This record gives sequence, structure tokens and C-alpha cells, in this order.
Amino acid sequence: MKLLVINGPNLNLLGIREPEIYGDRTLADLERELREYCTERGVEIEFFQSNHEGAIVDKIQEAMGLFDGIIINPAAYTHTSIAIPDAIRATGLPAVEVHLSDIYTREPYRRVSYTSDACIAQISGRSFEGYKEAVDILCNRLYNETKAE
Ligand code: DQA
Repeated sequence: MKLLVINGPNLNLLGIREPEIYGDRTLADLERELREYCTERGVEIEFFQSNHEGAIVDKIQEAMGLFDGIIINPAAYTHTSIAIPDAIRATGLPAVEVHLSDIYTREPYRRVSYTSDACIAQISGRSFEGYKEAVDILCNRLYNETKAE
């Protein structure tokens, strides 16, 4: 099983960026923790971060045939992008949306997610744990699909 983790704009600045909201751990810390978590479970993982909507759309399209599922934190594009959920739908791949902070207890404009409609689950406010929970959700989903075949 191979999963793609996509992190959107400004998440390259984790650790520096508003640490009172996002914590003081970096994107490299997240990737290291997640790689360990996946290795223990026999899951292959690849990471992608971009500050550009089009680059994220390209990466989602390229995932077709290469990955079994996508974990995505679209960051600010969550609340504005139609192209990202359209790309997820186009691939037909199961995707889980993750947010480090709880988007439902922050500014009202963060409560709208266009991405969540295209995803099988959304995890918000669980920091790094949320990404691990997303791995579990995708593993269970893909395992049950294989069993049903
Ligand atoms: C975020 C929440 C978004 O509202 C924000 O724009 C981000 C990060 C999160 O992980 O909590 O950049 O997706």
C-alpha cells in the first residue's frame, strides 16, 4: 500500500509559523514521525508540499495509478479551492483531509471546507496525530476493499 501526503501553502513554515496555533515542530518532524508510523505498518509513504494550487492539482493527478490513497492538508486552499477537490474526485482515489488546528473553533471563514466533499473523512484539531489517524482510516478502507474483492 502506498500513500501520498500533500501539505499546502505555508506548511513549509511549520515550527516558525504561529507556533501558538500550529506548535513548534517542523514539517521535517512531521514527515519523520509519519514515515516511522507507516514503516511500522508496512505502508509506503511519499511527501509533497507546495504553496501553489496548480502544483497541488498536478500532483493529485499524477497520483493516479501510483498511489492507493491521499492524505491532504490543503491549508488555506481548503476554504477557497474548487480545483483541488475536483482533482481528488477525478482520480477516484480515497482521500482524507487533515488540519493541525481545529478549523471549527477559529475564524468563521475557516469553517467552510470545499475539499471535505471529495474526501472520505476529515480530521481537524489533532495536530500530528491527525495524519496518523488518516493513515489508519485509509489502511482500514483499503484493507476492507481488498477483502471484499
Ligand atoms: C490549516 C488550517 C487552515 O485554515 C490554514 O489556512 C492553514 C493550516 C491547519 O492545518 O490547521 O494553513 O489547514
